[in-house]
Amino acid sequence: MHYNRLGRSGLQLSALSLGSWVTYHNQVDVKSAVELMAAAHDAGVNFFDNAEAYALGASETVMGEALRQLDWPRLNYVVSSKFYWGLDRGDRPAINRRNTLNRKYLLQAVDGSLKRFGLDFIDLVFCHRPDPHTPIEETVWAMHQMIADGKALYWGTSEWSAAEIRAAWEIAERHHLHKPVMEQPQYNLLHRARVEQEYARLYEDCGLGLTTWSPLASGLLSGKYRQGIPEGSRGAMENMAFLREGLTSPARNAVVEQLAPIAQELGGSLAQLAIAWATMNPRVSTVILGASRASQLQENLGALALRERLTPELMARIEAITAPVAA
Ligand SMILES: NC(=O)c1ccc[n+]([C@@H]2O[C@H](COP(=O)([O-])OP(=O)(O)OC[C@H]3O[C@@H](n4cnc5c(N)ncnc54)[C@H](OP(=O)(O)O)[C@@H]3O)[C@@H](O)[C@H]2O)c1
Repeated sequence: MHYNRLGRSGLQLSALSLGSWVTYHNQVDVKSAVELMAAAHDAGVNFFDNAEAYALGASETVMGEALRQLDWPRLNYVVSSKFYWGLDRGDRPAINRRNTLNRKYLLQAVDGSLKRFGLDFIDLVFCHRPDPHTPIEETVWAMHQMIADGKALYWGTSEWSAAEIRAAWEIAERHHLHKPVMEQPQYNLLHRARVEQEYARLYEDCGLGLTTWSPLASGLLSGKYRQGIPEGSRGAMENMAFLREGLTSPARNAVVEQLAPIAQELGGSLAQLAIAWATMNPRVSTVILGASRASQLQENLGALALRERLTPELMARIEAITAPVAA
């Protein structure tokens, strides 16, 4: 494992990390979470990603229980959560807990996450999406407050536009508040424009770090959707039906097919190739892996071994195959 600074911050994250979206609570119970996190930790992973909205809070409960059982020193791991969608409890939707980044919601949401995790603080907190109905200034002050209160250590954004991130950073700079230090965007062989083009100026100007998501485009880049939707896969899950069109797209699967000989030449799998490729971008602090079972995680952690074999010539071949279809 190697470690990268999270942008301009002093925090070092493992180049590969492990997330819990879709999996924890739905496919992964506490016992399996312990197994996955222990395997990741043994390989040098120090960051575990989560969010309030994952499994409506249950993903944080599962991870919190796993952390209790694993009993690692608190200094040795980094945990995140993200806020925006809110959890609706009770018999009617709470107007201030839905799709918002207002101060009232944010400062209550972090307390809920801390309780579910059973932790005293969360290392990284993200604004899970931008909220056009709350002034960015209000959100920046609330995120600063979370850190000032000792409930979080670093804050950032997820899927915000470059203009929104810069606006938040400048407000924090102007008022001497804790600044956003990281963004969490989707980044994989088929989804690149935001990380490579839109954010280009932010890395130096604002010291932005990246914790990137869906390195396999929800499993597509492992090649397993080339013959349709396999049983027991994310694409077969009823509540993931919105992903099916993308997972079974003939154009996207044709790209995966063309990548297969390169993976073979490298002596790795398609999944390992896709993950290794994502780690090659020096702007990426950590690539967040997803895994519904231990065998996938073991395979995916093996991606780092491919890095040194990814020569400029092979990177150029990958570029020629993927660039025409990447978003
Ligand atoms: N900030 C955000 O908005 C956001 C959004 C999405 C994700 N994230 C974070 O990023 C993390 C990773 O995202 P992701 O889960 O979408 O990552 P991904 O790597 O694109 O997809 C992971 C899924 O692909 C399948 N898979 C993984 N390795 C495989 C392998 N070697 N062979 C075959 N199938 C394999 C598994 O699903 P099945 O076995 O069920 O098919 C696994 O759950 C999430 O857990 C979350 O923490 C953040």
